[in-house]
Amino acid sequence: MRTIVLGSGPMGRAVAAGLEGRGDDVTVLGRPRSTHPPGAFDGIDVVFDFSRGDGVLPNLASGLAGGCRRYVVGTTAWTAGPVKIGAILAQYGAAAVAAANFSPGVNMLARLVESASYLFGPLPAYDPYVVEWHRRGKADRPSGTALELSRRILAAHPGKARIADHARPGAAEADELEVSSVRAGSSPGMHVVGFDAPGETLELRLTARDRSAYVLGALAAADWLAEEPRRPGLHGFDEVVDQLVGLPGTDPSSAPLRRGTGRAGRRMDPVAVPMA
Ligand SMILES: NC(=O)c1ccc[n+]([C@@H]2O[C@H](COP(=O)([O-])OP(=O)(O)OC[C@H]3O[C@@H](n4cnc5c(N)ncnc54)[C@H](OP(=O)(O)O)[C@@H]3O)[C@@H](O)[C@H]2O)c1
Repeated sequence: MRTIVLGSGPMGRAVAAGLEGRGDDVTVLGRPRSTHPPGAFDGIDVVFDFSRGDGVLPNLASGLAGGCRRYVVGTTAWTAGPVKIGAILAQYGAAAVAAANFSPGVNMLARLVESASYLFGPLPAYDPYVVEWHRRGKADRPSGTALELSRRILAAHPGKARIADHARPGAAEADELEVSSVRAGSSPGMHVVGFDAPGETLELRLTARDRSAYVLGALAAADWLAEEPRRPGLHGFDEVVDQLVGLPGTDPSSAPLRRGTGRAGRRMDPVAVPMA
C-alpha cells in the first residue's frame, strides 16, 4: 500500500514504523506551514491521521482534493464534529475508520464496560467511575478513550446522566459519573473503569505497555478499508474488530456482550514498533 501518515509525534512515528515493518510505502508529514498540498496525496491508498484535533478537517480537505478516498483517523479532540466530517467524506464517496483508541484490547474493554454497566445498573450501591493516566505531555484531557468509555457507561447505566463537572465546587451529584485524569511521567495509556460499593470494588483495567497495540488496530483498520468498497462516511473501529473476531457486522453498542460465531476471524499479526 502507498500510505501517508499525518503527524510526526510519537504515535505518527509508531504507525509509520509498523507500516514500514510490513513492507508498505510510507511518507510521514508533520505540521504544515498552512495546509498540506493536495498533490502530496496523489496515488495514496490510505491516509493515517495522528496529528492534532484542529488539523483533522484541513488534513481531510487536502487529502480529498488530492484524490485519496480511505482514511484511518486516530487523532483525538477534533475541533470539527463527526457529523460534519462524515458528511464531507460521504460527499466525496470516501470512507474513514475513526477511533480515539485503535487498541483491540481497549475495544474489548469498552464492550466489557458496556456489559458491566447494564449488569450493575439496577444496583445503586455500585457507583461507576473512570480513571485514566497518560504521559505528562498529552495535550487533551480526559483522553478520547476515557470519553468513549464514559459515553458507553452513560448510555447503559440508568443511574448516570452526565460526566461530573470538576469546575463546580462541592460534591458530585448522584447522577454524575466521576472521570479523572492523571498527567504524569511517560505512561502510554492506562484506563480503569470501576464499580465501587461499600463492601467491595470491581475494576476493569487496561494498561498499555507501548504503542504497538494502537498500531496493530490502525493497520487492521486500513486493511479493512482496502479489502472491499466500504460505505462512504465515518465508520467506528467496532466494525473492524467484529470482523477480526468473526462476529456478524452489527453495531455492538446496541447490545451487551454477545457470543462469537466460532468462525475464525482475519489474521492479526503482531507489529513491532520502537518506543518513542
Ligand atoms: N487512536 C489511537 O489509538 C491513538 C493512540 C494514541 C494517541 N492518539 C492520538 O493521536 C494523536 C497524536 O498522538 P501523539 O502522541 O503523537 O501526539 P503529539 O505528540 O501531540 O504529536 C502530534 C504531532 O502532529 C503534528 N501536527 C499538528 N498539526 C498537524 C497537521 N495538520 N498535519 C500533520 N501533523 C500535524 C504536531 O506538530 P506540533 O507539535 O507543531 O503541533 C505533532 O508533531 C493525538 O490526538 C492522540 O490523542 C490516538
